[in-house]
Amino acid sequence: MAELKIGLIGAGWMGKTHSMAYRAARLAFGGDPAEPVLEVVADATEEIAARAAADLGFRRHARDWREVVEDPAVDIVDITTPNDLHFDVAMAAIAAGKHVYCEKPLTNDAGTAFEMAAAAEKAGVTTMVGFNYVKNPVQGLARRLIAEGEIGPVRHYRGAFNSDFLGRRDVPFSWRNDKARAGSGVIGDIGAHCFAYFRHLVTQPIDEVMCDLRIVIDERPRAESAGRFSLDAGGSADLVRADTDDIATVMFRFGDGGTGHMEMSRVAFGRRMEIGYDVTGTEGALRYLYDRINELQLYREEGPQETKGFKRIEMGPTDPRYAAFYPVPGIGAGYNDYKVMEAQDLLEAVAAGRPAYPDFRFGAEIQRLIDACILSDAEGRWVKVAEVGP
Ligand SMILES: NC(=O)c1ccc[n+]([C@@H]2O[C@H](COP(=O)([O-])OP(=O)(O)OC[C@H]3O[C@@H](n4cnc5c(N)ncnc54)[C@H](O)[C@@H]3O)[C@@H](O)[C@H]2O)c1
Repeated sequence: MAELKIGLIGAGWMGKTHSMAYRAARLAFGGDPAEPVLEVVADATEEIAARAAADLGFRRHARDWREVVEDPAVDIVDITTPNDLHFDVAMAAIAAGKHVYCEKPLTNDAGTAFEMAAAAEKAGVTTMVGFNYVKNPVQGLARRLIAEGEIGPVRHYRGAFNSDFLGRRDVPFSWRNDKARAGSGVIGDIGAHCFAYFRHLVTQPIDEVMCDLRIVIDERPRAESAGRFSLDAGGSADLVRADTDDIATVMFRFGDGGTGHMEMSRVAFGRRMEIGYDVTGTEGALRYLYDRINELQLYREEGPQETKGFKRIEMGPTDPRYAAFYPVPGIGAGYNDYKVMEAQDLLEAVAAGRPAYPDFRFGAEIQRLIDACILSDAEGRWVKVAEVGP
């Protein structure tokens, strides 16, 4: 059986999630067409990397990320560091001829994002960005229904991703609160997922945006120890300035007369993961809510008035990705399962020598939307998406 050796950079939350995903992909998909091997891991220090290698099951650890990208044994460089490192690591990995799996947002501005996409395409390597929510089989069905015209041409889109994980003032300062590291706040972190949903489903490009960004908590306790993101309350009495946005409100226009809005928050108390969308076409609508993770709701404007309404569709093993996990319908696949499906999609694409989905170009287009939102907020006006990026 062919092997694909993984070099992981960044062993925090996502590093652990990706490591679990490779292992589970082997179990769910039988190592076909290639078996992922956890070869080498790097983190900010050698000490953290050594611990991560033992905890996550990597064969070796490296002293520095550069050792991983230059390692001749490594086939896929997997980047799960804070956002500010994505560009340097990915460009070095591409230059070394590696395939690259990078967490979202692809990078911190559209210019470098498109540079990454162009470099990967020129080198002929496979890339993947971690927009795992679109890997839910439900989203494959939704995309197909829209493409097949089930709800007619899309006229309106409403998206939401409200959470409260940074609602408390005593959550210590981390890289997510630091513009120099994160690039932006909720608009880049969570907005990236909202735009990925839209792009996955609707496919027509967003032409212009009007965005308002708000910082709600502008200082936080300094973390007791520098390092990975943590929600543990505490930290020192010393307060650090937090300069990334906590709430984003976006209006946008797309395609041939389409309009929409999205709301994103990480300080929406009481709403842990209120993720969802309504896509409305000329003949029907689709609705998805993350707290009904395995369901899609379809409305079609047909039949007698008395019985019209949303139909609840539950995913089942007719979808091969779902079937790899569960033999009966209605069992909800979860967040980590999407990561397994994402990892398997990458392994299949690399083994076949073809592009993966969503790739760096998809990630760069999302970055362009994020930049357009940031510019709109700064200048208080509608911004044409084509104004930003290359
Ligand atoms: N797809 C998703 O749903 C999702 C969810 C969370 C995070 N993310 C993305 O994943 C990335 C990581 O986020 P996280 O929540 O796992 O962060 P984290 O803080 O938990 O982990 C980041 C890791 O990178 C390490 N690191 C820092 N500097 C490094 C360096 N110079 N070299 C090597 N390693 C270094 C840190 O020590 C830490 O272990 C971010 O880009 C984030 O946007 C995606």
